[in-house]
Amino acid sequence: MQRIVAPSMLSADFGHLERDTRMIDASAAEWIHIDVMDGVFVPNISFGFPVLKSIRRASSKFLDVHLMIVEPERYITRFAEAGADMITFHLEATERVGECIALARKAGVKVGLSVRPATPVAELERWLPEVDMVLIMSVEPGFGGQSFMPIAVDKVRELRAMADQVHPSLIIEVDGGISASNAALLFDAGAEVLVAGSSVFGAEDPQVEIVKMLEAR
Ligand code: DX5
Ligand code: ZN
Repeated sequence: MQRIVAPSMLSADFGHLERDTRMIDASAAEWIHIDVMDGVFVPNISFGFPVLKSIRRASSKFLDVHLMIVEPERYITRFAEAGADMITFHLEATERVGECIALARKAGVKVGLSVRPATPVAELERWLPEVDMVLIMSVEPGFGGQSFMPIAVDKVRELRAMADQVHPSLIIEVDGGISASNAALLFDAGAEVLVAGSSVFGAEDPQVEIVKMLEAR
């Protein structure tokens, strides 16, 4: 299986957003992870369309937008227009999962579905054939820099087994508290994309840190 690292721009220096985006653009990371928070679904507010557009201008990487907002159906089209390549929304954030998937398809972007640490992967089952990716949260969404919750490893294994039956090419992404020290465990469990905010941007050399994660054994 492929290994991809997606640095989270939430941990970038917003005073030097273009510089940090270009630094990641020149790294071995194939994706860039973009955390949108509304202060309602999660107790924090991050950024929206103008920041995504600025990142889009400074990068040719695959832009992986993680919506931590209620009623994502209201904004999916606009995030696609602002430059997203993948839009992931939370199962817990909407009654209209099917509509969200359809909106993303209509806008021509890939679509992911995410679950909080306490939401069982069984609740994702009926949607697995319809989405490109599932994002397993390994921290409570809302903030960077939290400690990894090991329950995520079992959820990845369970989800990989479920997906192998109904959608073998489903991508599994994990987000929260990930560094070179736990990357191998997650890749081995069946994850293909690992998000990393503080471990990458807090490293002495973020580009070296990304390679360490990709090569973790
Ligand atoms: C948390 C966000 C994460 C966050 C990860 O709600 O979804 O993407 O930026 O940050 P670290 O890697 O520091 O846990
Ligand atoms: Zn995220």
